[in-house]
Amino acid sequence: MALQITCQPELAKCGDGCEFLVLPFWEGAEPAADHSLWKDSIEAPLSSGDFKGKVGEKLLAYSTKGRILLLGLGKKEKVNAEVLRRAYSAAARMAQAKKVKSLCLLFPKSEMKRDELLRGVAEGIFLTNYAFTHLKGDSIKDNPCVLLEEVTFLGLDQSEEEALKKWYTIASGVYLVRELINGNADDVTPQMLAETAKSLEKRSRSLKLTLLERKQLEKEKMGLLLAVNRGSSQEPYLIVLSYKGDPKSEEHVVLVGKGITYDSGGLSLKPTDGMLDMKCDMGGAATVLGAVQTAAALNLKVNVTAVVPTSENSIDANSYKIGDVYRAMNGKTVEITNTDAEGRLVLADGLAYAVEHLKPTAMIDVATLTGAIVIALGEEISGLFCNNDALAGDLMTASDAVTEALWRMPIPVEYKEMLKSDVADMVNSAGRTASSITAALFLQEFAGSVPWAHLDIAGTCYRKKNKHYNTTKATGFGLRLLVDFLERRQK
Ligand code: BES
Ligand code: MN
Ligand code: ZN
Repeated sequence: MALQITCQPELAKCGDGCEFLVLPFWEGAEPAADHSLWKDSIEAPLSSGDFKGKVGEKLLAYSTKGRILLLGLGKKEKVNAEVLRRAYSAAARMAQAKKVKSLCLLFPKSEMKRDELLRGVAEGIFLTNYAFTHLKGDSIKDNPCVLLEEVTFLGLDQSEEEALKKWYTIASGVYLVRELINGNADDVTPQMLAETAKSLEKRSRSLKLTLLERKQLEKEKMGLLLAVNRGSSQEPYLIVLSYKGDPKSEEHVVLVGKGITYDSGGLSLKPTDGMLDMKCDMGGAATVLGAVQTAAALNLKVNVTAVVPTSENSIDANSYKIGDVYRAMNGKTVEITNTDAEGRLVLADGLAYAVEHLKPTAMIDVATLTGAIVIALGEEISGLFCNNDALAGDLMTASDAVTEALWRMPIPVEYKEMLKSDVADMVNSAGRTASSITAALFLQEFAGSVPWAHLDIAGTCYRKKNKHYNTTKATGFGLRLLVDFLERRQK
C-alpha cells in the first residue's frame, strides 16, 4: 500500500490527531523547530537532562494526547542529508516498535539547502519503512510487523508536497529492488524477472520491453549466457527495458544488470556457506530494472535502457564444463576455468548485445560479481571500475550526493595477461589474485570503445543486519545512485 503523505502548515491543526509526534532537537537539547505548542508535555522529560540531542538519540514521552518522540539531529552546524536520513530512520524504527500506523513530524528548521533538508528527512522515514515478511509463517503472529501508512509533515507548505512525493517515488524504486532480491530464488526466477519487466511496461506508457527467449538468444549467438544456463531447468532470457524520455537526443545510457537468480557455482560447486546468500545474485538486475522504472516514473529527460541477461547458475548432467570453450555473441572464445565465475559470462553477452544493437553513449553494468570486493571494501562501499574518467567522475558525484559509497578501483592493462588462455581468447577466471580486477578486465573486453563503468555491489547489495535506513538483507544499493546520475544527465 502506498504511504499517504500530507503537509500541514499550521502546527495547531495537528492537535489531537497525532498518535505519534516527532519533535526535532539539535545537540544540547536545543529545539530545531517551534515546540511551544507542546511545551507542557516535554518540559519534564527535557529537564531530566537525559536527552542530549545527539544524532538519532531518542526519548519517548507520553502526553494525554499521545506519544511524543524527542529526536536528536546532532550538531546544528554538522547537519546534512545523510545525518537527517539516519536520525529520521531512528524515529521510523521507534514508530515500528510501537506499532503505530500514522506519524506526525514537526519539520526541522535549518540553513541547509531546502532540497537536501526535505530529502534527508523524507528518505530517513521512507527508506526505513520497509520489511520483508511474506515468508514468515505463524511465528510473526505474536509480534506482527506494523509499517507506517500515513506521515504528516507539520510546518510544511502544501507546495513542498511535490518534492516529498519525488523522494517517495525513489524510495518505491528501492522497495522494488529489495522485494526482488529478498524473494525466494524459487520464486524470483528468470521468467519472473521477465514478467516483472512486462508488468512495468504495462504500467507505464513510456517504457518499452524487448524480451529475447532461448530461440532468439541462439540466433544472436549468445553462447556464454546459454552455457551458464545449461545446468538449469529454468529458461534463460535477455530482458531489454527501454525508457525514451528525450527522443530528440542521441544520448543513450545502457544499464546492464547481472541476473543470476541463484548461484550454486555450477560444477565448481560452492560450499554450503558460500551458497547461503546466493538468491541475491540478481541484485544488479533488480537495480537496473528499478532505475529505469524510476526514471520513467519521474519523467526524467533521458534515454535509458536496462539490459538483463538472466539465468540460474545451477548444476545438472548437462552443466557447462570446466575446461571447455564457449563462444560469446561478439565472437570471442572463452575457456571455462571456473563455472562459479558465471556473472562475467552472462554480462559479457549483455554488454555485447548493447554494443551491437542499442547505440549506447555510456554503459554501466551493475553486478554482485566477486567475493573479493566484499573482502576489500566491505558492506558499505561498492567497487567502481571505469574506462573513462568523465563517466567515473559523474558516478562519483552521484555517489556523494546520495551517500551510496563507491571506491574507484584500477583496471591495469598489465593484469590482462592473467586472463590469457592456451586454447581460447581468454579464460573466465584467473584465480584468486586480484580477482575483482581481473573480473572487470574480462568485462572490459566486451564494452568495445563505449565509455563503460562496472559497479561491483557484492558487498553492499545484501546485508546481515539492519543499519540506519538499510533494512535487513536486500539494501537496494545503487538505485538512488543511478537515478541521481540520470537526473544530472538531463539537458
Ligand atoms: N555471485 C558470486 C560473487 C558473490 C560473492 C556475490 C559473495 C555476493 C556475495 C560470483 O558469481 C562468484 O562466485 N565469484 C567468484 C569468482 C571466482 C570463481 C573467480 C568469487 O568471487 O569467489
Ligand atoms: Mn558464481
Ligand atoms: Zn554469481
